[in-house]
Amino acid sequence: MAADAQKRIHDLFDSLWADYTAFNPQAKRIYDLILDNERTKDPSIRALVNDHVALRTFDLPKMGVDALGAHFVELGYKACGEYVFEEKKLFARHFEHEDKTLPKVFISELETKKFSPLVQSMVKEVSDQITEAEIKKPSFLWSRRKWQASHATYQKLLAESEYAAWVYAFGFRSNHFTISVNHLKSFKDLPELNGFVRAKGYALNTSGGEIKGTPAQLLEQSSTLAEKTRLEFSDGVHEIPACYYEFARRYPQADGKLYQGFIAASADKIFESTNVRQ
Ligand code: NI
Repeated sequence: MAADAQKRIHDLFDSLWADYTAFNPQAKRIYDLILDNERTKDPSIRALVNDHVALRTFDLPKMGVDALGAHFVELGYKACGEYVFEEKKLFARHFEHEDKTLPKVFISELETKKFSPLVQSMVKEVSDQITEAEIKKPSFLWSRRKWQASHATYQKLLAESEYAAWVYAFGFRSNHFTISVNHLKSFKDLPELNGFVRAKGYALNTSGGEIKGTPAQLLEQSSTLAEKTRLEFSDGVHEIPACYYEFARRYPQADGKLYQGFIAASADKIFESTNVRQ
């Protein structure tokens, strides 16, 4: 890969990470605790490897999965697996780079037309305030919220779609980062890592069991429960769930290569890490 493309990819993920940890300091604390533990095994380890980074959006042509994915395709990523979430009314695609030390990117979009006029008018209002030129800049991926949002509308949206409410409140930014358990040297498996995170005082999402997926499905995932953050709305400051931190372990396929896809049933439960009710 050209040095220039490599630098642009790293700058892009650094920007997403800086935004993500700024409003989810818990993720940075967990990252540092795991990194310290890794260094007890190998002091030369300088960073943890990400399995994937997840982004959320709406299915309008100008800002859907493919519009956001274009930023990654331009940097050498390829569109790979597609996923459908019937109940949550979401569609997702993942993007992969041939350099397997680079995170996969999981982008989902809300299927707007399947929702009520309330959700549709919110999406239109958001869309009307964003130009295509803005979306075509990579910095759109961490542009946060540019519109006025009220807590009253947030609560109405929540009743219909936690996902719609999240994007309305937080805007465009990374929903979560995911540590690659395969690359860890001081933890032998996901249960051991989960035990470490729990012992440090962080709650895990137990929707669908603490570990989603099985070795037979070639992917196991777990995640923290989203940390609450104080967010400014037009009708006051309110505390709402922000983002979670995920951990993933992949298993080899028949050809010996690690499986690189996602399991829709597991991702469905992982989405619930940002649920207000948990
Ligand atoms: Ni994920």
